[in-house]
Amino acid sequence: MSQGKLAGRVAIVTGGARGIGRAIAEDLMLHGAKVVIVDSGVTIGGEPVEPKIAEEVGAHSANSVGLAGDITDVAQQAVDLAIERFGGVDIIVNNAAIIRDGFIFKANIDAFDAVIRSNLTGTYRLMAAATPVMRDQVKAGRAPGTIINLVSTAAFYGNFGQSAYAAAKAGMYALTRVAAHDMGRTGVTCNAVIPFAATRVTESIKPANDQQAAYKERAMQVPAVYVARFVSFLSTPEAKSISGQLFGVRGREVMLFSQPRPVTKVLQPQGGYELDAFAAGIRALEPYYADLVTDLEAFSSDPVL
Ligand SMILES: NC(=O)c1ccc[n+]([C@@H]2O[C@H](COP(=O)([O-])OP(=O)(O)OC[C@H]3O[C@@H](n4cnc5c(N)ncnc54)[C@H](O)[C@@H]3O)[C@@H](O)[C@H]2O)c1
Repeated sequence: MSQGKLAGRVAIVTGGARGIGRAIAEDLMLHGAKVVIVDSGVTIGGEPVEPKIAEEVGAHSANSVGLAGDITDVAQQAVDLAIERFGGVDIIVNNAAIIRDGFIFKANIDAFDAVIRSNLTGTYRLMAAATPVMRDQVKAGRAPGTIINLVSTAAFYGNFGQSAYAAAKAGMYALTRVAAHDMGRTGVTCNAVIPFAATRVTESIKPANDQQAAYKERAMQVPAVYVARFVSFLSTPEAKSISGQLFGVRGREVMLFSQPRPVTKVLQPQGGYELDAFAAGIRALEPYYADLVTDLEAFSSDPVL
């Protein structure tokens, strides 16, 4: 992609001070965008460790500014800052996330609430703050922008102990579809991207079996820049007709994911409740059932770099 393709465009990247978010912020700037980096400087579990990291990273370039804080609390501030500093808001990247795992049968309700609040409510609040501005900008003649939500295969395959994280990511996917519909008439697009990349999150994986170990070993070879390039592409006019889609990016592989639709159907027996007939009918669905494999097992093959 030629440099300068995103000149005049303004992005907000949550969790943009490290990992995949930082790679995305840097790549957007490489192509000429101005970027507001929002980051709360937390551990993977959401404990504060580097509260000023957003400001430090944001100060590295004249084309970026940092906003320290949890996106759930500072969404409106992020939009205001983008407008005040750079004159608008065109690209929203909901990338910030925390993870607190635990088996469902050892439920930790506080952990569940914290993950949903950070990952899902934070995404919603930024979309709620930015979309009215993005709409008004289009009405005023500015080119439509885009929203990109970083989700996870955990939402679609599941993984041991990831009830909170997977539920938040599935919620982000649903928000993606709804925003693609709601913003369709303005030309603002909204897509979900599943990243695969070596970050502290990948490092923290504790494999439950050999296939999961293979996933970790291979994921650790994949730099985040590939995800960043795809996010930059989705932000360009070339991608203006792509909306409501679910992609995966693993190294050079860009995957288009299917989205849940009925795959086949049977009819319940007519009249009365006849369990044997019912069971026989439902058995016809069996060849279509989805495998119960975790996401780490499903993606344990070699990445293409
Ligand atoms: N690394 C992978 O292979 C992988 C796989 C699937 C999904 N993802 C997703 O990609 C995204 C980036 O992951 P990563 O591996 O770079 O993570 P990371 O932990 O390395 O970085 C996340 C950043 O987000 C910040 N953050 C967390 N919660 C925040 C909040 N509420 N408000 C503001 N900042 C917050 C953290 O301080 C951190 O700087 C996440 O959404 C993650 O779920 C990553």
